[in-house]
Amino acid sequence: MKTLIVYASSHGTTERIANIAMEKLDKNEVKIINLKSKQKADLSNYETIIIGGSIHAGSIQREVKKFIKDNTIALMQKKLALFLSCMNEKEEQLEFNNNYPELLRNHSTYNAIVGGEFIFEKMNFIEKFLIRKIAGISASTSKLRYTEIDNLVNAVRGQ
Ligand SMILES: Cc1cc2nc3c(=O)[nH]c(=O)nc-3n(C[C@H](O)[C@H](O)[C@H](O)COP(=O)(O)O)c2cc1C
Repeated sequence: MKTLIVYASSHGTTERIANIAMEKLDKNEVKIINLKSKQKADLSNYETIIIGGSIHAGSIQREVKKFIKDNTIALMQKKLALFLSCMNEKEEQLEFNNNYPELLRNHSTYNAIVGGEFIFEKMNFIEKFLIRKIAGISASTSKLRYTEIDNLVNAVRGQ
């Protein structure tokens, strides 16, 4: 069962999650594509697609939205799993629902909200200011849900 993982990441956390998932799958059967790179994804080569992105000011990366918009029909014919990295625990389900279309959420084998990280070293001045002010956090923080990444991988493996 060939699997394609497509993701977009702003400060590297979603990329790390995508790589963790990839390492748990059979390396001969999995390919990973960063949607911010120029690499094209030919979905016809894969039975399973995992899509991931993260939330900034309420929205997922536009590259994820475009990938979904351009490939909805093909995605509906694949085994699918969706994951989202974000830090606002109160809003996370709403953010998931607002950013992944209902059609795909319902078709998806596993919908994972995997937590996230604030990496201050990678933020610009405005981002640092916003996170301090809105989240009240002023140092790098990781709240990744590794168990949920495992659950997602197990679901696409059919376990
Ligand atoms: C400037 C900024 C804005 C953010 N806005 C939100 C938000 O609106 N909701 C949320 O749940 N998380 C928010 N986050 C948290 C990110 O989703 C989290 O840091 C995520 O792990 C980032 O993943 P990435 O490095 O792959 O982009 C924000 C983070 C930053 C730096």
